[in-house]
Amino acid sequence: MATRQQTQTEAPPAEAPSKPDSLTVTDNRTGRTYELEVTDGTVRAMDLRQIKVDDDDFGLMAYDPAFTNTASCRSAITYIDGDAGILEHRGYSIESLCGHATYLEVAYLLIFGELPTKPQLERWTYDVTHHTFVHEDIKKFLEGFRYDSHPMGMLLASVGALSTFYPDAKQIDDPEERYMAAIRLIAKMPTLAAFAYRHNQGLPYVYPDNELSYAGNFLAMMFNMNERQYRPDPRLERALDVLFILHADHEQNCSTNAVRGVGSSQVDPYSAVTAGVAALYGPLHGGANEAVLRMLRRIETPENVPEFLEGVKRREERLMGFGHRVYKNYDPRARIIRKSVDEVIEATADNPLVDIASELEKRALDDEFFTERKLYPNVDFYSGLIYEALGIPTTMFTVVFAIPRTAGWIAQWMELNDDSEQKIARPRQVYTGERDRKYMPMSKREGPEKIIGPPARRPKRPRRGA
Ligand code: CMC
Repeated sequence: MATRQQTQTEAPPAEAPSKPDSLTVTDNRTGRTYELEVTDGTVRAMDLRQIKVDDDDFGLMAYDPAFTNTASCRSAITYIDGDAGILEHRGYSIESLCGHATYLEVAYLLIFGELPTKPQLERWTYDVTHHTFVHEDIKKFLEGFRYDSHPMGMLLASVGALSTFYPDAKQIDDPEERYMAAIRLIAKMPTLAAFAYRHNQGLPYVYPDNELSYAGNFLAMMFNMNERQYRPDPRLERALDVLFILHADHEQNCSTNAVRGVGSSQVDPYSAVTAGVAALYGPLHGGANEAVLRMLRRIETPENVPEFLEGVKRREERLMGFGHRVYKNYDPRARIIRKSVDEVIEATADNPLVDIASELEKRALDDEFFTERKLYPNVDFYSGLIYEALGIPTTMFTVVFAIPRTAGWIAQWMELNDDSEQKIARPRQVYTGERDRKYMPMSKREGPEKIIGPPARRPKRPRRGA
């Protein structure tokens, strides 16, 4: 039992707690005092339940919309200190991993907890490389999308469809099935992403090339036109691999929470990861880098930056790529990626958006509105610029983010399934609606005259086909 109930009759209990690692709470409604155990800087929300005004009371709950101060799990995968700007995977700093490792090495680290030895990495790389092909029916499935379908929607649907190709993945406690799901998801994600892009472009899909690295193969599937052996620029291949490492995991963010939430129903891993893809699609999460590029294009020239920033301060605009729920100092990933921007720009053609971004960054970092609110560039402020320089279209940005995040989602999904404290995720609510209303026959109903329907239609975008 993590708590003890006392009746408040003596001196304030805070002065003489029976346990040093505890929190003493007095319920001023009843005068009762409770001692809640503090473990790892947390109290258990369930310990609040015993705090009641009377026997009929359900008990106290914690109200935390958007989970801003609630730990939903214990995790040994990724450590973030938002104030100090620290990000570590399994105890290794993001700086050292980006400086020395490859993405596949980091994926192994995230999933299995240790850096692989040489034979382990060879086996892992072999297995991933030899599962990059997708079933031809998945190709046909993608061909069914409209030519201008958003590639993230296509990715979302095709990852979900994978679950129908591997029904044995439902055996989520079988180590072999788990391993194969990890391999298949990591291997096939770039293929699905590149197929979605080629579909948008009206180009034939390019099959994976087993001779290439993970990042190199993705670039080949995206951009190979008719070269017998497409060989990407090694500088761009490395820049993309670094971006993949930077995006591999980020503890309990929106999409990981979605994977864990859906995975807690014990659904197969393909379906759980599909939930992550869906969450990542949103503009406040993975869609932010796409939004950054749209914002830069809208600003048009560096001269327009001051006026744009005034609009942000008037709350007419949001400075996309700035601010973070966790990093209230500087996103450490942004610092690493900032260096890559210059290298990639050097290897590719000049891009006027880089000048606008630099001006925006300089002015915002010099402006009290942003510094007071601890709004600094996040990883997405720069990742979009790199994707742009690599020739990846804006609509593909979030798709490219989903590729490396798959390793994190799988690692988190596996940890969830091995955690005996986890159950099906089922938050509580504070009900604010009406109660005990009597059903009213339609003839007796009175109400506002206004008919509720969709707002006036905007002119429809012309579309090809039926
Ligand atoms: N532009 C202008 N004002 C902002 C911004 C922004 N980008 N971000 C936060 N603020 C303001 C906000 O209006 C609020 O001001 P006030 O206190 O005067 O009301 C204050 O800063 C605190 O903001 P918040 O909304 O409480 O912060 P949050 O932690 O809930 O939001 C965020 C975090 C990332 C959703 C938000 O900063 C944002 O919308 N940023 C732009 C979108 C973006 O770049 N997202 C990518 C995040 S990195 C991806 C990843 O890690 O996976």
